[in-house]
Amino acid sequence: MKKHILEGFFTKILTRKNPEDMLETASKAGLEKTLTAIDLIILGVGAIIGSGIFAVVGIAAAGEAGTPGAGPALIVSMIIATIASIFSAMCYSEFSTMIPVAGGAYTYTFVTLGEFCAWIVGWLLTLEYLFGYIGVACSWSKYVMNFLQRFSLYLPAWLTTPPEWLVDNYNSVKHTIENTGGDISTIPHILGIPFCINIPAILIVVITTAMLIKGTKDSTRMAAIMVFVKLSVIALFVIFGAFCVRPENWTPFAPNGFSGILMGAFTIFFAYVGFDALATTAEECKNPQKDLPIGIIGSLIITTLVYISVALVLTGIYNTSGHVEQGFLNAPLAFVMNLHNIKIVPELISIGAIAGLTSVLMVLHLATTRVLYAMSRDNFLPKVFQKLHPKFKTPHILTLLVGFLCIIGTLTFNVSDAANLCVYGTFASFIVICIAVLILRHIDPERPRPFKVPFSPLFPLLGIICCGGLMIYSFKQLKDSSMLFGIWIILGIIIYALYGYSKNRKAEMNSIEVKEDDKELITK
Ligand code: ALA
Repeated sequence: MKKHILEGFFTKILTRKNPEDMLETASKAGLEKTLTAIDLIILGVGAIIGSGIFAVVGIAAAGEAGTPGAGPALIVSMIIATIASIFSAMCYSEFSTMIPVAGGAYTYTFVTLGEFCAWIVGWLLTLEYLFGYIGVACSWSKYVMNFLQRFSLYLPAWLTTPPEWLVDNYNSVKHTIENTGGDISTIPHILGIPFCINIPAILIVVITTAMLIKGTKDSTRMAAIMVFVKLSVIALFVIFGAFCVRPENWTPFAPNGFSGILMGAFTIFFAYVGFDALATTAEECKNPQKDLPIGIIGSLIITTLVYISVALVLTGIYNTSGHVEQGFLNAPLAFVMNLHNIKIVPELISIGAIAGLTSVLMVLHLATTRVLYAMSRDNFLPKVFQKLHPKFKTPHILTLLVGFLCIIGTLTFNVSDAANLCVYGTFASFIVICIAVLILRHIDPERPRPFKVPFSPLFPLLGIICCGGLMIYSFKQLKDSSMLFGIWIILGIIIYALYGYSKNRKAEMNSIEVKEDDKELITK
């Protein structure tokens, strides 16, 4: 009896979706197929290049609070991060060309590993996109403050140099005050609780939330403009910066040895997050079989080239081997340009960064909403999340909820903590996708695969080893983030056990009843 119950339970949580059903549903959804390979590369670069290269790159190079930095060996860290991404990118390409439906990793897992794993992957993607959103919102705030400070001669002091507790979270403010020998009691308290609020971050979250509720019709055109602005300021940085490089800054090349290089690779991986979101556009591609691999792998190659140029120039201008100033950690590109007092360039870089980060924020907010929407459609989350705005036809309740969660996040996390959690979510979902490719090759070998990961099973296995290795290595160094990651997974399992599991069983019962009613009608 007990054996039967257990068998039944496992069969249920391993229930897989049928790819044919998904393809049929997708063809009925009737999304307009307008995206070409070039559009996908633009969207990809728009989603990928953001605070990773404008902010987190400083932390990856110089390290932070007990985490060693890579120093000038940052380019080696970047190459490791690229290798880890490329294997997963190929696995994404195989899936997205084989089952070109919306939903990305979450959908692919439903087809291969079943209900429970699909929920966990959806939950991991939520971690990735939500914490990515929080991290980028915090960087946005830093770049805006950096930009305003450049105009301190013309703008009022309350705008250019407000108290720290109005533009950062409590932990960061406390850290800064302690480091500068200040007095922590200057932080205001409400009912005995310290009060810190990141107003610029909240402002941008409110703006992106409002924009997404209104709709994203022109998103490709806007992404193209943002990509142009971003790439232009990065080119400006590399060209002007190249004249300020002093080769002696590149020695010692790896001040913290292999440990610094690996932690640098983990940290800078944040800069690569986003290409996986391209797979979610499969239903809107003109020719997904050919264009998606070009879009995913092409945008990854472009961003890698951009990142390596920035890393070489950044570490060549400023010595990242020893102690670095806080300004470098906050907004490294603008900071090193300020050092050389090159007119206009730091301001232009800040403007480019602010524009670039805004586009990434939109993508990450949209991606969080899309994943939660898909999970709600599959009975994992309440139906209210699917409610559409009567006028704009967007999931406004969900969009508002994600915005609200991000605001809470900016009150609690700083850029690097949020980025670490985002990277954990990304690595974990990449590992599942690499495993899923291997499983589907085994259980459904005949399915046409317009793009095949070469050298399988070697390449998917290397993807698992690279992502898993970096993740496990970081656990030792990032105790708080790894603990929070564990808590997130446990919370996910509890929500599934208390809600998703029973809702799916009810849905199953309903569909059986409907089918039986249909049969009866036919026989009558
Ligand atoms: N890759 C994105 C960024 O760097 C998350 O902002």
